[in-house]
Amino acid sequence: CGIVGVVADPEIIGNTAPMLVQGLRRLEYRGYDSAGFALIECSSYRLLVFKDKGRINDVVESYNVDKHCAVSGIAHTRWATHGEPNTVNAHPHVDCRGEIAVVHNGIIKNFAELRQLLEEKGHVFRSETDTEVVAHLLEEYLRNGSSMWEAFKRLVRVIEGAYAIAVIYSREPHRIYFARKVSPLVIGLGEGFMMVASDIPSMLQYTKRFVALNDGEYGYIEPYRLYLEKDGRAVEWRHRVMTVTWSIEDAEKGGYPHYMLKEIMEQPRVLFETYTGLASSRELENAAKLLSNAEKIFVTGAGTSYHAGLVFAYYMARIAKRPVIPFISSEYLAYRDMDHSNSVLVAISQSGETIDTLQAVRSFKSSGGRVIAVSNVIGSTIPREADVTVYTRAGPEIGVAATKTFLTQVLALTGMALTLAQYNGSMTQNEYRKAMDTLKNAGHAASAGIDRSIRAVELLASSLRSKGNIYVLGRGLGVALAYEAALKIKEVSYIHAEAYPAGESKHGPIALVEDGFPVIFVGVPPREELHEKLQSNVMEMKARGASTIVVGVSGYDDLKGVDFYIDVGNYDEILAPYAVVPPFQLLAYKLAVMLNRDPDKPRNLAKTVTVE
Ligand code: G6P
Repeated sequence: CGIVGVVADPEIIGNTAPMLVQGLRRLEYRGYDSAGFALIECSSYRLLVFKDKGRINDVVESYNVDKHCAVSGIAHTRWATHGEPNTVNAHPHVDCRGEIAVVHNGIIKNFAELRQLLEEKGHVFRSETDTEVVAHLLEEYLRNGSSMWEAFKRLVRVIEGAYAIAVIYSREPHRIYFARKVSPLVIGLGEGFMMVASDIPSMLQYTKRFVALNDGEYGYIEPYRLYLEKDGRAVEWRHRVMTVTWSIEDAEKGGYPHYMLKEIMEQPRVLFETYTGLASSRELENAAKLLSNAEKIFVTGAGTSYHAGLVFAYYMARIAKRPVIPFISSEYLAYRDMDHSNSVLVAISQSGETIDTLQAVRSFKSSGGRVIAVSNVIGSTIPREADVTVYTRAGPEIGVAATKTFLTQVLALTGMALTLAQYNGSMTQNEYRKAMDTLKNAGHAASAGIDRSIRAVELLASSLRSKGNIYVLGRGLGVALAYEAALKIKEVSYIHAEAYPAGESKHGPIALVEDGFPVIFVGVPPREELHEKLQSNVMEMKARGASTIVVGVSGYDDLKGVDFYIDVGNYDEILAPYAVVPPFQLLAYKLAVMLNRDPDKPRNLAKTVTVE
């Protein structure tokens, strides 16, 4: 879910409603089951609530939200957890008298007990959500004579779980209360207005100055004031103001029909920017230092970020001669009861906010481990809790399916493995310098991967669009890339795609193969080691009638039994991912468009998942 709130001096900003609408549109990547707005109307100071299931634009249009005049307001885009996505369960939620409105991202764990207590006192609940207890609790405290600020502080002490909350109260029209625990929340500092939101891009059109809230902080904003507290004590925040240099154009579509396509096409540039950014900072050195002292190294992430972790584990073994244990973030419990005082966890999260990854980080830290974060968002939670952060410089990624953040993660992680290899002597200075020079060309490789496949992908997509299932098989480095390829296809086209190590395909998956079943092979270096084995796997599939496709670096064109071949060019093991991955991203994109799916906002998904 995503939330945004604005409070403004009416002399400076006549109406905050359009700002809320714009801000919320930028948060749609966090979920889009339903959306809602609570406005405090100019002059009358009445609380108006508009909410419905469906996309933000539908709600805005059906209630003419931006035509109303608001001195302040809060808004929410929802990804359903408690209660199905319908109008009643949509946020904001209000108290019985219709004076208090609440938006919330996260989960209030003890809501059932609280709800029961409140119901016993006569509160009538309208929705099934955990959030509604917030409105009623505040109302209850006010009834007992508290001021809203006292009531809000009491609320923060009582509710348990993970939350980012914003509250407006019609009797205090120039103030928004907020609280953060686990779920992210950022304050935007304006001239004559203040904003609060789940992320920075949603406010970027209005201000470039931000304060990211820490866990456990709460307070309020007024048009000219931010007041912050933690554990009952005022918090000084002025030294924490950060100024962001992204422009709003960075977050717009730039002429492409979809963000996903724009972000695929941006890869050559952002890979270069990530490389130069890392080369001129000490991030890789700091990370490699931590790694070189570690006894055990783990790598974790969710979704696409986990696949980048698999690439990392592969390079670490091959190049730095260090075994790495990869695990999917939500499975961190397996390693919870271990002494991690000599372990390092590499936690990969483009948003820096995925709750599963954050929990893994916290679990490792609490058992003595050190953490290296790899993230695209400065000031996000995982980097702030990590010992060292390596930033990718991909710019904001709006498409829900990760594209450019994946390859920039791969680049940063490869840089990390190379730097460690030089530290621990697995590579000479010379070899290291050569390898880093190679990595500098990642952007060129991506560009070639795009150019050499864009036409062929169109043809391939036409032949795959009617299929119900696709296998993607690879060996070596190609396994991690196959996982990512299958995930991309699945996410945006809804065609069932499954990846396996090619050698494993005969241990089960091959049972499904019959005439015309599409099997895509990922061909990567080292050719000498993999070619012959891949050839056998192609033949096994062909013998069962499969339609066989290869997407690979040059040198696999002589494979027998291949029906369709995309040659991305001649690249070594370091550069292969940048050339091989874009054709798969393009294929997923094309399939989605051909099948009339929205590639930017696939059903049931959210870009940043802040619930476990
Ligand atoms: C969500 C998205 C995935 C993404 C994953 C991890 O599930 O739908 O596309 O890979 O989160 O996100 P992160 O921000 O932690 O990299």
